[in-house]
Amino acid sequence: MASKLFTPGKIGTLELPNRLIRSATQDPFGRRDGTCAPEQVALYGEVAESGVGAIITAYSYISTEARSTGIQVGFATEEQRASQKEVLDAVHAKGGRLILQIMHAGMNIFMPEKRVEGGKIFAPSGGMKGANEMETTEITAADMDKICADFVDAAVTAKAMGFDGVQLHCAHGYLLSQFLDPNSNLRTDDFGGSAENRMRFPARCLTAIREAVGADFPVLVKVNTNCAGEADAAYAEDIVYYCKQFEALGADAIELSGYNWLGLGKKKVPTFYLERASKIAKEVKIPTILVGGIRNMEQVDQILAAGIEFVSASRPFICQPDFYNVLEKGEESKCIGCTKCLGNIWTKEGRRCVTHEIPEGFPKE
Ligand SMILES: Cc1cc2nc3c(=O)[nH]c(=O)nc-3n(C[C@H](O)[C@H](O)[C@H](O)COP(=O)(O)O)c2cc1C
Ligand code: SF4
Repeated sequence: MASKLFTPGKIGTLELPNRLIRSATQDPFGRRDGTCAPEQVALYGEVAESGVGAIITAYSYISTEARSTGIQVGFATEEQRASQKEVLDAVHAKGGRLILQIMHAGMNIFMPEKRVEGGKIFAPSGGMKGANEMETTEITAADMDKICADFVDAAVTAKAMGFDGVQLHCAHGYLLSQFLDPNSNLRTDDFGGSAENRMRFPARCLTAIREAVGADFPVLVKVNTNCAGEADAAYAEDIVYYCKQFEALGADAIELSGYNWLGLGKKKVPTFYLERASKIAKEVKIPTILVGGIRNMEQVDQILAAGIEFVSASRPFICQPDFYNVLEKGEESKCIGCTKCLGNIWTKEGRRCVTHEIPEGFPKE
């Protein structure tokens, strides 16, 4: 019997021809001004042409002070938005669907002197070590108003531009996951302490986005199913509560990842977060999407059989942009799990994967 992977699925109003999603992935083509390069336009077209169900963009910052690194693409300025539209058009021209991942880096803002007034690193809690070991400053109520408004502006603009949805980045140690994670949220006000309080700010952003874009525009969330250290035992329950809240507040789908995807990737662990994801999938009615370590049809079928409706992957698409066709043929990803692709983002060689040659015209300044 043909795998469920090759059957259509739905995320809110968005119809996908199959159950495979390219998870958000930064590539080595980011320009210093935060615009997308022609190489990105071509790459996204190539992924879309393979027939993949949907593509999620690289994490895109919603304002200059939300930017993590200088090699990241943005969705803050007119120029950045116009360049992301070129990527979107390339995907649509090949019959694909593109979801914009929107983010704020929080304590992971490198070189804040370049991006943030006063050069401070803002985070849920002050006095902690942020990027480059710099001390964090606690986000105020006024900061929260501004950040929430920036998320809404990005989502509304994405809808107007014709994106097929947005994904609110609540994972991987960026601002909204810093609120959800008890290791980085030490606040004693209404936004810290209990899981209910830690959820308050991400919930506020999601609610504001949903109100602004209306019921019909797909809004997804990406979230960590785990956290570091002893706190993880309680977090195993918190994540179920968070996902139920995301559903109640109007999320159309939840992509399930974890704080330690990088370490598990290096150890070549298969299907990183399947156990927690299958538990969550039983607790919510909206589709869940599992990412991390998925390389072949056996794993895909195991995930779909557990009630998780979609599978997503990043590195297999870095290695082989036509990963969807690789699975169609019943083959395994050629990704060897070395995770050098992450370092490649910084090298300016334009080489995405160790299995690739340096492309023509690179290295670039
Ligand atoms: C080079 C690289 C860039 C990534 N960029 C992003 C990103 O922009 N946003 C995000 O949520 N995750 C990002 N990730 C994490 C992936 O989406 C995914 O969660 C992780 O790699 C595990 O999936 P995989 O085993 O299929 O690679 C990135 C991963 C890699 C290797
Ligand atoms: S660089 Fe390594 S981990 Fe990254 S896609 Fe290529 S083989 Fe996989």
